[in-house]
Amino acid sequence: MASRLMALWDWFDSRMPSVAEEWRKHAAEYYAPKNFNFWYYFGVLSMLVLVIQIVSGIFLTMNYKPDAGLAFGSVEYIMRDVPGGWIIRYIHSTGASAFFVVVYLHMFRALLYGSHKEPRELIWIFGVLIYLSLMAEAFLGYLLPWGQMSYWGAQVIVNLFGVIPFIGPDIALWIRGDYVVSDATLNRFFALHVIAIPLVLLGLVVAHILALHDMGSNNPDGIEIKKTKDANGKPLDGIPFHPYYTVKDTVGAIVFLAIFAIVMFFMPELGGYFLEHNNFIPADPLKTPEHIAPLWYFTPFYSILRAVPPLFNSQFPGVLAMGIAVLILFFLPWLDRSPVKSIRYRGAYYKGALALFVVAFLILGYLGIEPTTVWGQFSATEGSMMDRVLDTKDRATWVARLCTILYFAFFILMPWYTAKDKTKPVPDRVTM
Ligand code: HEM
Repeated sequence: MASRLMALWDWFDSRMPSVAEEWRKHAAEYYAPKNFNFWYYFGVLSMLVLVIQIVSGIFLTMNYKPDAGLAFGSVEYIMRDVPGGWIIRYIHSTGASAFFVVVYLHMFRALLYGSHKEPRELIWIFGVLIYLSLMAEAFLGYLLPWGQMSYWGAQVIVNLFGVIPFIGPDIALWIRGDYVVSDATLNRFFALHVIAIPLVLLGLVVAHILALHDMGSNNPDGIEIKKTKDANGKPLDGIPFHPYYTVKDTVGAIVFLAIFAIVMFFMPELGGYFLEHNNFIPADPLKTPEHIAPLWYFTPFYSILRAVPPLFNSQFPGVLAMGIAVLILFFLPWLDRSPVKSIRYRGAYYKGALALFVVAFLILGYLGIEPTTVWGQFSATEGSMMDRVLDTKDRATWVARLCTILYFAFFILMPWYTAKDKTKPVPDRVTM
């Protein structure tokens, strides 16, 4: 049997040698630093979740109906009547949140070890493009179950484009394909969600990996392993990706899938964080839910939107701030002026700034889920002066404003504090 398989492989290999060549280039002879740690699991896990989403999505599409009159019912049909339908749907809904968990941790790793810095700027830029596409993919997909939150969430987000001066209303109309979110909107969101954005995502991931393999991976010490090579030209601090990291990543994938299964089987809604309660009610264009909030992965940016006060009755400043909050990520490689990459050798300024940034981001995320009155309102006398200035009474809004300032300060002041920081000497070889 084995020899037959080998013969088959030889037949294939002699007709298409590039498969074995690519395998050697990207796995068996791709030298990765030998000091990868916990944070280096999340790239591969992002790939795993991408595959999970595509496969479960294909199966969902077999029974889903992209029609405003049928969509909600078809999802209920999948959950109750299609054999195994419930598990496919829960895989896909848990996968959406899991995607953002692993991608956020993956991005944080770059901030820890300076993976965005020269010569890996392009890897980072492809990463930010992936992140933007992922946001688009999640937003478009959320409309499809046609629940109350799907409907009103889409209404709110599309209307945000409407506040852009001059061209905004036309853009909003163009996105919706109608004057309100309707069947036309559902159809186009379906088309974009199931084919257009997944294709873009796949292309970007390929570009991301190619750029990574051209430059070589960074590592927790932020050292370029290509600088110290043995007599055969192999990096002394590197090990072949296969079998060493394929085995290590398999362990990571098993642990991840175990956690994934626990969530999926025992708490698929995760208290409303993964599947919102209001989305179990069919969309009703005549009844706005009391509290509209996006899913958790968008809430830091939603908080920024709510924190910025309107100007001349226009929400445009908030929308602009929210847009800049995401787009500023593109510039990170050039904002970071530190001579060292890894946090291990950076000084107190960067460590402090990163800690504040993470705290601000988490608080913004929490506040975006809650109504602005979550921490109560100022009493009339307490709040009156502030109210006059900024037309709000809520304590949470003020905390969100402070966190928004911290969020932007992390980036805007970065050229200054990374250049001033007292760094430690970086060793020549990786430390274990
Ligand atoms: C579908 C989403 C993504 C996939 C499948 C993916 C995949 C990967 C893989 C497999 C690696 C190498 C292994 C590792 O370093 O963990 C990697 C590295 C990297 N990724 Fe991603 N990635 C994704 C999203 C992102 C995003 C959103 C960013 C940043 C905005 C990003 C930035 C980076 C950087 C800077 C590296 C180099 C890390 C280093 O060498 O230290 N990636 N990515």
